[in-house]
This record gives sequence, structure tokens and C-alpha cells, in this order.
Amino acid sequence: MSDNEKKKNKVFLRTFGCQMNVRDSEVVAGLLKREGYSLVEAEDKADIVIFNTCSVRQHAEDKVWSEIGRIAKSAKKNVHIKGRSTDRLGRSKAGTGPIIGLIGCMAQNYKEHVFQRSPAVDFVVGPSDIDKIPSILERLAGARQKTKSPDLYELKIWETDADKRPEEIYHTGFYEDKEHAYVVISEGCSNFCSYCVVPFVRGPLHNRDNKEILKEIEQAVSKGISKITLLGQNVNAYVHENVNFVELVSKVNKVKGLKEFSFITSHPKDTTVELFKAMAECDKIKKALHLPVQSGSDKVLKEMNRGYTKKFYLDLVDNYRKIVKNGELTTDIIVGFPGEREKEFQETYELVKQVQFDAAYIFKYSPRPNTHAQMLLDDLSKEEKEKRHKAVLDLQKSVSLKKRKANKQL
Ligand code: 5AD
Ligand code: SF4
Repeated sequence: MSDNEKKKNKVFLRTFGCQMNVRDSEVVAGLLKREGYSLVEAEDKADIVIFNTCSVRQHAEDKVWSEIGRIAKSAKKNVHIKGRSTDRLGRSKAGTGPIIGLIGCMAQNYKEHVFQRSPAVDFVVGPSDIDKIPSILERLAGARQKTKSPDLYELKIWETDADKRPEEIYHTGFYEDKEHAYVVISEGCSNFCSYCVVPFVRGPLHNRDNKEILKEIEQAVSKGISKITLLGQNVNAYVHENVNFVELVSKVNKVKGLKEFSFITSHPKDTTVELFKAMAECDKIKKALHLPVQSGSDKVLKEMNRGYTKKFYLDLVDNYRKIVKNGELTTDIIVGFPGEREKEFQETYELVKQVQFDAAYIFKYSPRPNTHAQMLLDDLSKEEKEKRHKAVLDLQKSVSLKKRKANKQL
């Protein structure tokens, strides 16, 4: 990079979605900082704006499209004063406005079609290609330097083809928090729950080498990190060279200097009593389990391709509570899945009442591209979905409150 280009190095990184995205943004920040970029807290101070996006529900995507539209519009306004910068469609001309990148799940979902939907976007990078962002930025900056003519449109770059990430990206040593770090143990998911877009946008399950995971944790701890959260879409399916998740957990527990660790997310079909025993035995594990149930109806669970029944889930909860004394339990629930009639909904409602979760994240079903459920008839009215959502939300609120009060009295 020339000195002139080097000055355009302020990055505003905005993250949508889950903890995996939070960690991915951190990885991108680490890679960029290593190349001399700096992070800024506000988009109007940035030369480069990157959206790390989520596709799990339509609502998350809508928010990103509208935010990009807003930035494009304000960039257009700025340059309006200086002269021509955008055409009638809002496409920015070379060298104007911030460089805008869309990365993560939406990038994989829409690939190069992002440019049609949002012409202000300059680059699109899928979750497995994030290591390429520094070189993409260099190419874009170089192109802007060369392309002074206002009649030339900006260079567009998209990278969405890699199968898996290079291991090195996890070793930049950059963590946002001074005390806590997210550590990815597996990427992608091979479960194909029928409503879920994740296997399509993040690819099949890929487990990181257990030695690399431990090395990352040890290095983080040597820099002052004392708390870790192990991350994966289904941590319980982890296996690498005969080390399964329970064994990994025992190894992490032995890391010197580490004070506490937890893990998300657990899939009931792969969660075992052995894990609960390890949770009870390992002194550093936070006694907390996030175990998404999704529905209390066997019919709906089958349609969701979850691979367990209500009874299996309830037995698992019983075992957890017996083995991990006073363990916290949280869950995810989807209401209004295709074919969920009042009877099936009531089964979910009853399950929530029965289990008494410490907290529950409740979502309205949102049809997603490529998924099996997208082909099922989603004919429940918006009002009814809203009603069911509110009913479980209100129920859970009262349960959470009761539990918090009870804990205080202890
Ligand atoms: N519609 C609504 N909620 C969904 N989730 C995943 N896919 C969808 C969808 N299509 C929810 C599940 C999952 C959580 C992360 O998001 O409950 O556990
Ligand atoms: Fe999606 Fe199911 Fe995989 Fe979770 S386990 S990421 S819900 S497919």
C-alpha cells in the first residue's frame, strides 16, 4: 500500500447475530489490525464499513439491507455536494463514500447477487473466506486510487467458495475483552434441522484440531484471559482424533491459569450423561447448559428433523438436574412452525411450564431459503404467530422472575 492509501485504514465493523459471529468479527479485526488497520466506533469516522451478517431469520437480513441503504444514501448526500457520485440507482462511482463490505451468513446466502440488491456494497465474503478480507481491501483501495474517472464504477469482489478456514486465523491473539474469550471448537453444522439455514451458509461440520484449540486457550490465558466460552453450532458432536467433547472439556479444565469456562450450543440428541458427569466433576466449568428444545410436540420435532422426542428431552433435563446440582438451564423455542396447530402449541407451552427454564429465547418461525421447511405450507396468520410468541414469552418471564426471586432467598 502507498502512504496515501494507508491513511484510509479506519474500519467500522458491525456485527449481527450469534456469538459465532461475534467471534468471527473479532477474527477479522485481528487480521486487519495486524495489517495496520484500526477499528473505529462510528461509521461516519470510517473509511471501510463491514457488516458481519446473520441469515437465521428474515428479520435479521431485513435490518442489514436497510442499514446498508441508509449508509449508501448518506454517502450519496455527501458527494452530492462535491459533484456526481451515484447514478439513478444509487450505485456509487469510483472513489466515493466508504468501502462497504457484507460478510458472514448473508454473504453466503446471496453471493454476488448482493451487488444487484445493494449496489453500494463493494465486497462480499462468506464465513469460510474471511481470511481473504485484508487482501480484498488492498485490491479495492488500489482500484480506487487508479480509477479517478467518475464514469467508471467501482470494482466488485466476492469470495464465497472456500470449504473451510485456515487454522491460522484463530491465532492473531486479538480478543475484544480483556478477561473473556470465545474459542471456536467447530465450524458449520451437518444436522439439517428442517427450518435452519446454517448448514447451507456455514457448510458441514468441521472440527478444529484439539491441540490447536488448547494452544489457542493457553496463549489467551498467558495474555490475561481467565474465562473462555467454547463455541460450535453443536458442540456435543465434536470429535477430533479420538478426542470427543467430554474429553475436550476435561482437557480444557486442566489449562493452568484458566478460571472458568462454558460452552454453547448443545444439541439434545448428542448430549450425554457423561457430559453432565464431567460438568459436575470439572471445577472450572460454569454449571450452565443451553439446550434448545425448539418444540414440545413430537409431531413438530419430527418435522423439524431434530432427532429426539419430548420424553427424551425431559429425561435429559432430569439427569442434568440430578447430576449437575443447581445447574442453570436455558433453551430456544420456535413457535408457529408449519403444521403447529393449537394442540401442538399447547404441548410446547406445557413443556415450558413443566421444565422451568432459567431463560428461554423464543422465536417466530421464519421460512429460510434452501431449507426443507421452506417447502412446507406456512399458513399460520401473522397475528396467531404473534399471539403464540407472546404467550410463551409471558409465561417464561414469570418463570424467570420466580426463579430469580427464589435464588436471592437462598
Ligand atoms: N425461524 C425461526 N427461528 C429459527 N432459529 C433457527 N432457524 C430459525 C427459523 N428459520 C432459531 C432456533 C435456533 C436459534 C439460534 O434460532 O431456535 O436454536
Ligand atoms: Fe441449525 Fe439444527 Fe445445526 Fe443448530 S443444530 S445450527 S438449529 S441445523
